[in-house]
Amino acid sequence: MEEDRRKMKFFIRTFGCQMNESDSERVAGILARAGAVKTEHPEEADLLIVNTCAVRQKSEEKLYAYLGRLSQLKKKRPVQVGVLGCIAQLRGANLLGKKLAVDFVLGPDNYDRLPHLLGKNLRKKHVLTSWSKAWQDTPAELVLRESPPSAYVTVMEGCDNFCAYCIVPFTRGREKYRPLRSILREIVILAEQGYKEIQLLGQNVNTYCDPESGKDFPDLLREVGRTEGITWVRFLTSHPKNFTPEIAEAMASVPTVCRQLHLPLQSGSTVILKKMKRGYTKEDYLEKIALLRRLMPGISLSTDIIVGFPGETEKNFEETLEVLAKVRYTSLFSFRYSPRPLTEAFRLEDSIPLEEKTRRLEEVQRLQKEIQLENHSRQVGSVMPVLCLGKARRTPQLYTGRNEAHQVVNFASGEDCRAEFIDVRITGFGPYSLTGERLNGR
Ligand code: SAH
Ligand code: SF4
Ligand code: F3S
Repeated sequence: MEEDRRKMKFFIRTFGCQMNESDSERVAGILARAGAVKTEHPEEADLLIVNTCAVRQKSEEKLYAYLGRLSQLKKKRPVQVGVLGCIAQLRGANLLGKKLAVDFVLGPDNYDRLPHLLGKNLRKKHVLTSWSKAWQDTPAELVLRESPPSAYVTVMEGCDNFCAYCIVPFTRGREKYRPLRSILREIVILAEQGYKEIQLLGQNVNTYCDPESGKDFPDLLREVGRTEGITWVRFLTSHPKNFTPEIAEAMASVPTVCRQLHLPLQSGSTVILKKMKRGYTKEDYLEKIALLRRLMPGISLSTDIIVGFPGETEKNFEETLEVLAKVRYTSLFSFRYSPRPLTEAFRLEDSIPLEEKTRRLEEVQRLQKEIQLENHSRQVGSVMPVLCLGKARRTPQLYTGRNEAHQVVNFASGEDCRAEFIDVRITGFGPYSLTGERLNGR
């Protein structure tokens, strides 16, 4: 009889950062344990979950456009729609407007409550956006991971920095740290399951502090680095203000920690950094880069840039370009400043016109593209290990993976090599990826 009952199907659409991707894997696990089955097709789902991002105005607009499409689906047949993540936390009950056809809203600290909402009376709406000061642990066995052989492992959540432009402290709350014991246990399980790479996640990982022992981020790196079977360890995000020489030394001394770091600069102008409340100057930042390169020659660096912050002059902007030309990042994410509610900068006049922001953004991207093409051309002929992540999406005759520098490498291989480390010789490149061939004999 049990078997005859049709199982509830759920579909998850994820917007936003790696933490949201990781949370969606947890949510999928929680729902699967409650007896529901994951589907990749929204049209056959009984439950549609949207995990949302609030970081820019455009992220929020994307959600409303998506919910519009879901409400069309909902007209055809009964289906529950749940909004999770940062916009859920930010907008709460406001998401229950009739037009949006939302049935429940869950902030990031409330995902454990999901099983209670399954199949609840569709006419009753639910909003759960309370904060929890305690770490909400999800057993490693429960997480339905999407990306073998690379796994996200959250080590902390929240942010105490309140950068003037950023909404994240209001959507993720204050910093809280996961017990080291629980982190290590999960990583041992992942290694047993065959995962090769671990990406430690948190809004501000450098301030990690084990609530049980007081061990800090360098300790965490050393302990994670000892896990047998894990070949590569990476982490994000690092705040330059909290990135200490001890962290750089731990990175250099633990062989499995990749020589790769994402260190968001935001602006190359000390004046703008001050207005952004970032807590470092251009010089402080460049000193950290110099130390990293001294300790780990060839380290691969990436960054985030915001253009058009209120009051950013042409001269301030040029300083950003100068830093980019100097550091020569492996890759970069750039954004037009977007005023966000609750943030300090929201009260400032959004003084740079959209066209000017766009021009600055394009200039950053043009310069970075040039740098990447140059960097990539110098890599032709070199041989490097690549962790194969599967078939390349656009060219299915190729495999795709990442090297230690976290560059995308597409390569030809005679046999299926998913989840393996492959030695690849680089033979070509574009601005955003390298191409190559698997060496003979492997
Ligand atoms: N905790 C991380 C990530 C924050 S959000 C960190 O501190 O780096 C990711 C990126 O979005 C930020 O680094 C920043 O470059 C960008 N961002 C955040 N708020 C923004 C805003 N209001 N407008 C434009 N970009 C923003
Ligand atoms: Fe936002 Fe700044 Fe915190 Fe990063 S460090 S999440 S940019 S407030
Ligand atoms: Fe977006 Fe929330 Fe991540 S606002 S960037 S999904 S922490």
